Amino acid sequence: MRENSRVDFTISTGVALKGTLRVPGDKSISHRALMLGAIAKGSTRIEGFLNGEDTIATMNALRSMGVVIEQLEDNVVVIEGVGLDGLSAPTEALNLGNSGTSVRLFAGLLAGQAFDTELIGDESLMQRPMRRITEPLQQMGAEISCSETGTLPIRIRGKANLKAMTYTMPVASAQLKSAILLAGLYAPGKTCVIEPATTRDHSERMLSLFGCRLEKNQKQICLSSEKLQGQDVYVPADISSAAFFMVAASIVPGSELILEGVGINPTRHAVIEILRLMGANIELEDERELSGEPIANIRIQHSQLYGIEIPLHLVSIAIDELPILMIAAANAEGETILAGAKELRVKESDRIAAMCKGLEILGIETEEFEDGMRVRGGKLAGGRVDSYTDHRIAMAFSIAALAASDNVTVMDCANVNTSFPGFVDSLASLNISITTETHSE
Ligand code: S3P
Repeated sequence: MRENSRVDFTISTGVALKGTLRVPGDKSISHRALMLGAIAKGSTRIEGFLNGEDTIATMNALRSMGVVIEQLEDNVVVIEGVGLDGLSAPTEALNLGNSGTSVRLFAGLLAGQAFDTELIGDESLMQRPMRRITEPLQQMGAEISCSETGTLPIRIRGKANLKAMTYTMPVASAQLKSAILLAGLYAPGKTCVIEPATTRDHSERMLSLFGCRLEKNQKQICLSSEKLQGQDVYVPADISSAAFFMVAASIVPGSELILEGVGINPTRHAVIEILRLMGANIELEDERELSGEPIANIRIQHSQLYGIEIPLHLVSIAIDELPILMIAAANAEGETILAGAKELRVKESDRIAAMCKGLEILGIETEEFEDGMRVRGGKLAGGRVDSYTDHRIAMAFSIAALAASDNVTVMDCANVNTSFPGFVDSLASLNISITTETHSE
């Protein structure tokens, strides 16, 4: 179905966003809860689970390795943990669809198993860099390979004896950090990673929740191989999904929106900090903590935004929100400069190129750099932009439409379901007119 059809969104200029919205569960936390639940002893119940295509890919892969997972409701999942060594050989390659997190975390998790595995994905995932994962795992003793061009398929030979190591990461990537820590569960001794910049720490928090001892010393995180115990996990609403509505409410006059139960982990909340630096009116209410993750309701009111230079230390912890922040920049007075964001070029699409091209089509002046872009704020026109099948580009331009002078059509939006199932319904619940059209190709 996905291969032979294309879904386009057409969105008209927005009415003020008013009311309360709960966006779906956090994608990163949902993946980790599934994986740790599977290799823990005892059962794990996940509430607030993201029932999206990426997390379903992780769930199906675990099922094909013999894990019993019951989905009681859309967002409630119970996993019968099989223990660290209880996974069984899948009968075919694990197809992780569009999900980079699934592939990279599984590479670490499967490097120390007793059986062989092969990891594949969709067209976009098959092009993404994997050597950053396979090389350090090889250094730990894993028998793991990727293609000559450093992409999928990843092939893992079982029965390798993993050794603990200390690894200095060449890129700031939570997926890489997590892959090494997960492999470390199978390596006797202490496995450490040193990050070049802060990245999301959900793996560390969840490993601790499941009973694992971790030590953190500035940029170094160490884990000793240990057994995990199943837990009840509550997954907050995904701040990366909430970010689309934070920007929407900021740029549409008259808006006042409350986003409920959003994860505000300090290694994820830079989007709030950046928007505030731009002049956004954002308040956190009812701050609390659940399953080791801080949560709050976020109240956003429309306000005039101003261009800024995005502080470098915030880039790695706003990495998924940078496309929608460029839409905020397009609606701001003055210029915004993003640098130090080369990683955006190897996400689900080349997000620097995709954002510059789309904004230019909508009449916004941009300049593309190797590691970022410059955006001069202005009045957006209508037009037809390509999402390059990237969920975050599709949603960013859907929100851009709300402040445009004419309709915006965003092409190839089906992958929105990878991270934000119900995106169209969420817009519709706020009286925003969005039409979807399916074209067969
Ligand atoms: C993720 C980490 C980020 C992010 C991705 C999810 C995770 O990737 O872009 O959407 O769950 O660990 P990198 O760590 O490779 O930057």
